Amino acid sequence: MIESSDLRMTRIPLSHGAGHMPALGFGTLIPDPAVTITATRDALEAGFRHFDCAERYGNEHEVGKALEAGLAAGGIAREDIFVTTKLWNSNHRPQRVEPAFETSLARLGLKYLDLYLIHTPFAFQPGDDQDPRDQNGNALYDHDVTLLDTWKAMETLVDHGKCRAIGLSDISLNELKSIYESARIKPSVVQVEAQPYLPETELLEYCKEKGIVFLAFAPLGHGVRPGLLEDRVISAIAARVGKTPAQVLLAWAVERGTAVLTTPRSAARARENFDISPLPEDALDEINRIQTRQRLNEVVKTGVPGFIPQGR
Ligand SMILES: NC(=O)c1ccc[n+]([C@@H]2O[C@H](COP(=O)([O-])OP(=O)(O)OC[C@H]3O[C@@H](n4cnc5c(N)ncnc54)[C@H](OP(=O)(O)O)[C@@H]3O)[C@@H](O)[C@H]2O)c1
Repeated sequence: MIESSDLRMTRIPLSHGAGHMPALGFGTLIPDPAVTITATRDALEAGFRHFDCAERYGNEHEVGKALEAGLAAGGIAREDIFVTTKLWNSNHRPQRVEPAFETSLARLGLKYLDLYLIHTPFAFQPGDDQDPRDQNGNALYDHDVTLLDTWKAMETLVDHGKCRAIGLSDISLNELKSIYESARIKPSVVQVEAQPYLPETELLEYCKEKGIVFLAFAPLGHGVRPGLLEDRVISAIAARVGKTPAQVLLAWAVERGTAVLTTPRSAARARENFDISPLPEDALDEINRIQTRQRLNEVVKTGVPGFIPQGR
């Protein structure tokens, strides 16, 4: 990790000389198109330089518009921001990967992506239906394509220079090891749920050993209440250091060497979530000793989005 005296500016190097990822990232999983635009602009203005998107979120066009306007207004260059999007489950067949990538790129209005992720290791029936189901409502999987087949098509995107790095999301340690061992271009990033109730320590250690950036989502427990934002240990630390629980949770994530995604939807929240500073060592230890264990997002088990944001 590139240490910075300013925790907000922490940048983590990507393997293969693919640049650096700003550790503090803004997630765009926002159901409302108008809110997507204002929240993305607010995040850029607050200082966020890392934007996490996905074709499945259905709002790449809005994110792209907001970034275009925000970059122009702030005199910020494309190279100064880091943009990720993700390949959805219904596009895992190798011949569908490049078209899906190009479509996302066009919707975002960008010429290249900093990072492209396979959104989940589960392949759904190929096609335009992002949520194919049988008569009983069960997800329809595609058993004729392996994750390695899809990964090889992702490697071709890097070869063609349209995408600087590739990675995986919602993946288990065993699945990651299998791809890592077979891959010609190793995964640069893994995006998974991680928070004090689900620290994923073993996966984090493996990523550190292999130089893979560990990118955590749900750092605030998806905002579910009661939950992490009201946790007794987190609240006590927040009161002691004069920060909010959200700031404590985000600082902990960055200080343990992960990148992290958060989704503030207002300008005030964007400023709050960007304004993190280092925690005292004993506070980090206290958080690491929290015993509660809870996974909030079940997507990792089925590939079906496991969490519907409040308000959807
Ligand atoms: N790979 C995957 O499968 C996957 C799955 C889920 C998410 N993600 C990514 O991760 C990103 C982060 O999403 P997340 O749900 O994990 O984010 P999060 O920041 O943990 O949770 C967002 C929730 O926290 C609330 N919140 C934000 N800032 C707050 C603050 N300062 N104080 C109190 N509450 C606050 C928001 O409330 P308000 O709505 O009221 O602002 C919202 O309900 C997503 O946008 C997406 O890019 C990826």
